Amino acid sequence: STVRIIGVPMDYGADRRGVDMGPSAIRYGGLASELEDAGVEPVDAGDLLVPRAEERDPDADPPTRGTAKFLREIEDVCSRLADQVADALANDAFPLVLGGDHSVAIGSMNGSSRQAQLGAIWFDAHADLNTPETSPSGNVHGMPLGAILGRDVFGEMGWAHAPNVREDAIAYVGLRSIDERERDLVRDSEMTAFTMADIDERGMTAVVEDALSVATNDTDGVHVSLDLDWLDPTTAPGVGTPVRGGVTYREAHSALETVSRRHEEEGALRSMDVVEVNPILDERNETATLAAELTASAFGKRIL
Ligand code: ARG
Ligand code: MN
Ligand code: MN
Ligand code: MN
Repeated sequence: STVRIIGVPMDYGADRRGVDMGPSAIRYGGLASELEDAGVEPVDAGDLLVPRAEERDPDADPPTRGTAKFLREIEDVCSRLADQVADALANDAFPLVLGGDHSVAIGSMNGSSRQAQLGAIWFDAHADLNTPETSPSGNVHGMPLGAILGRDVFGEMGWAHAPNVREDAIAYVGLRSIDERERDLVRDSEMTAFTMADIDERGMTAVVEDALSVATNDTDGVHVSLDLDWLDPTTAPGVGTPVRGGVTYREAHSALETVSRRHEEEGALRSMDVVEVNPILDERNETATLAAELTASAFGKRIL
């Protein structure tokens, strides 16, 4: 099977400049050969064009709209990304999106859900369910699920609502950092939230099996969104919003191997993004290399 790699060098959704170099770093981290080891054929579609913040006309509108920073730029990139993802699927290729900050998921999930009911697993320290109204930071990488689920008018981002994504088909795995107002949003939602405490108690495999059951229930496929800050910062230092107490190297591989097993059994996987790798903050590209390795595990790379 063919995996189409789509790079999105965008950092408009995050405070820390540098995630825009994530796609290059993940490629240098060995993504293509890792995917070949997993038995899939990678085809690199290159990067989407993302204008730099420095290129903005200083007399143009201010970059902050309401409380969401760079919303218009993000909308432009994500709507082009959604087209690319839909095009990959229409051509029987699996869309693999390399971020960039996590706001790229707005584009990937919109594209992936155009012709299908889409479930999702959100591997992340964060809930990313803020809206411009609740966000403490104004950073859109903390809002992609809010946008996808149509939780807010989202200014010009009303389009971001993906009607074929049901809340009850989304599962968080590894949650450990949530904003005050966001906590109620998660509690009152129909999403399933597996926190780090659930992983401690039940083990990663059991938790991911349950997450897969949520995401495959009455859907046509599953989107996996992998935020590298899901891992413990000692293992994945190259991220802009690190949170202590994250998953270990072994747990992470085990989680994605569990995803691949279900995919081999029922063809569950439909699209994936790998986001928030920040090479400026990384140590010798180890977070990007890990991102490439974990992606291969999701596609079935095994030791034997
Ligand atoms: N919850 C915080 C915020 O809204 C942090 C979000 C971090 N998101 C991420 N994709 N790394 O700003
Ligand atoms: Mn995230
Ligand atoms: Mn995160
Ligand atoms: Mn909806």
